[in-house]
Amino acid sequence: MVGLLRDAIYAVRKARLDVERRRLDYGRETRERADRLADVLPASAADLREYEREYEDLEWFHDSYADSVAEIHDAGVATDTTHWRDGATIYVVCRALEVETAVETGVLFGSFDAHVLAAMEENGGGTLHSVDLPGGPPGPFEYGHLIPDRCRDRWELHEGDAREVVPDLLERVGPVDLFLHDSDHRLPHMRFEYETAVDRLAPGGVLASHDVRLSKLFDRFTAENGLRSCVVCDTGIARRPRR
Ligand SMILES: C[S@@+](CC[C@H](N)C(=O)[O-])C[C@H]1O[C@@H](n2cnc3c(N)ncnc32)[C@H](O)[C@@H]1O
Repeated sequence: MVGLLRDAIYAVRKARLDVERRRLDYGRETRERADRLADVLPASAADLREYEREYEDLEWFHDSYADSVAEIHDAGVATDTTHWRDGATIYVVCRALEVETAVETGVLFGSFDAHVLAAMEENGGGTLHSVDLPGGPPGPFEYGHLIPDRCRDRWELHEGDAREVVPDLLERVGPVDLFLHDSDHRLPHMRFEYETAVDRLAPGGVLASHDVRLSKLFDRFTAENGLRSCVVCDTGIARRPRR
């Protein structure tokens, strides 16, 4: 009964978000990315714009990514893949902070993963641990299909429910420079991941989350925990103070 109610509430929130997204000016959000992130990260807007330009010019990444996207489209698979503009936000964060250890939940075809790993490749180091349910994405693909071969050896996939996998994983690999939520967006699960991750963030580390416009949870949680935060397009970025 409680589960059904949660699903119904989630369906209503998602429908509202879909309407809101049609009104959202993604062009403006993207143009303001560097300024918004500069409020949260220890980098100037000018430096962050440099990373945006670097991302735009990252040919090895875009060639591989475009080929893999085409393969997914050709297979006629409906996807819930994260848009590259949110991936670009995470790329900039990972470059600005020189993220070394990151944990992500919700892989699917691995759009976010590909962007974190591309930044690690440019940083010259780092490991991304990703968690998704046992099985795999739809169609004839494996989790993380969008990840370029060039950065695959920095990636470790952990299959299982995030509720079971994440606490032990964070205990083992933490403190982490980045925790990125993009799995089950029902509020109790989001809160569970945020709460589990916030204690395992390195000083100055980032808690990031997709689909933060579904509710006020991200804003409330970051305020409650004294994290400075901003939202760019559909991604929330919050940073733990250095001390
Ligand atoms: C929106 S998709 C992720 C998109 C992906 N991050 C990207 O960049 O394109 C959500 C993913 O979360 C996974 N998921 C849902 N509930 C989960 C859970 N409890 N634990 C781990 N993964 C979960 C789903 O299997 C699905 O692959």
